[in-house]
Amino acid sequence: MKIIAKHSEGKMLKNDVFQISEQAKAAKLINPNVIDATVGAFYDEKGKLYKYKVIDKILKKLPDEEFYSYASTSGGSAYREAVLNWVFKDKRESLLQAKKYAFVATPGGTGAIFNSLYNSLDKGETLLLPNIYWGPYANMASDQDLKVLEYSMFKKDSFNIEGFIEKAEEIIEKQNKLVTIINDPCHNPTGYTMKEEELASVIEYMNSKKNTPCVLIYDIAYMDFSFNSTIRNRFSLFKDAGENVLISIAFSGSKTFSVYGLRMGAAIYLGSDKEFLNELQAIITFTGRTHWSNCTAAPINMIVELDKKPKKYSDFMKQVVYAMEMLKERADIFVSEAKENGLSHYPYVEGFFITIPCNNLEKVIKNLNDDGIYLVPVKGAVRVAICSLTKVAIQGLAKRIKTAIDLAN
Ligand SMILES: Cc1ncc(COP(=O)(O)O)c(C=O)c1O
Repeated sequence: MKIIAKHSEGKMLKNDVFQISEQAKAAKLINPNVIDATVGAFYDEKGKLYKYKVIDKILKKLPDEEFYSYASTSGGSAYREAVLNWVFKDKRESLLQAKKYAFVATPGGTGAIFNSLYNSLDKGETLLLPNIYWGPYANMASDQDLKVLEYSMFKKDSFNIEGFIEKAEEIIEKQNKLVTIINDPCHNPTGYTMKEEELASVIEYMNSKKNTPCVLIYDIAYMDFSFNSTIRNRFSLFKDAGENVLISIAFSGSKTFSVYGLRMGAAIYLGSDKEFLNELQAIITFTGRTHWSNCTAAPINMIVELDKKPKKYSDFMKQVVYAMEMLKERADIFVSEAKENGLSHYPYVEGFFITIPCNNLEKVIKNLNDDGIYLVPVKGAVRVAICSLTKVAIQGLAKRIKTAIDLAN
């Protein structure tokens, strides 16, 4: 007898990164020369998962009470302060003068996106996504019985604002509400970072829909790996968001602090209406309590400590710069070898991934696997997680990928 709720039937992960990564790990056990560029986690030049010494030290020195105990569902005021300071840095004061906010701790950025989707769309409604995106967005949508409409993300090498508006209009026509997720900067999987004016044009468009509620879920999972030291200037754009616009910033501690498994995150909602934001605060906390109760206490107390101790903070920032330099060197090798070998990829600006569009994806993946290379298939493309490869492993990789694609076509 099949004992299952109707809404659960047929649900299954397909091409999920964690599944493909298991295959790559198994292949590497047999052949250590296998290239595993599947998972979006930062590895050092010895091929080991990178950890920040300062973070490691803080975590290991936490008193039992701060390590093992329950955290509050919201994360508590010290966590909220530390995350707001971390995320907005010098933009915090002016942004939070212009906007009201609601805040809740979430298990990773995933939890923040879930919280935002769950509280902004009803069953049967449609979410707007670009045509190339992080797979779990669509899985979360389908799990909540939401539909997805896609726009073509690029026009040549720029963000396709016309395509975005065209599809947004279609959605608004049907449901008089727009909810979209934008992963920026360092977009997964392409590595694109929007120009400030491109993000401004999204806000401008939303503002123009005065009587239509618009929600921008702004996923900043990779922001701290942006090579641009002024990347946070774009938060100032949110000050101009209209009364009808709610911005939900999905913060993830996973990549920023290299604490992937500790499930650290938060949803920060920014809006204009104080009363509504108070109501929203209660709602998003309720969602947290009913879906995951509360989040892991250790990373919550870790960032609180980092926030309070300037010396630890500045030591950590030095280590961040070191990790970014490593990532930049890897990106430079791949991008220049791709050019030399005529391998075209989506417009890469920065971040963990470079993605190569290709036909006959299944054959390409097979050819790659036969050559001991494991990448993640994304719609009509393969994603290379340069974050997890040493510089030595990256050398020659573009050429091998080009060969695998040519053989399949
Ligand atoms: C685009 C994007 N958003 C959000 C996340 C959320 O990560 P986590 O839930 O581990 O914080 C990830 C992780 O891979 C991601 O790639």
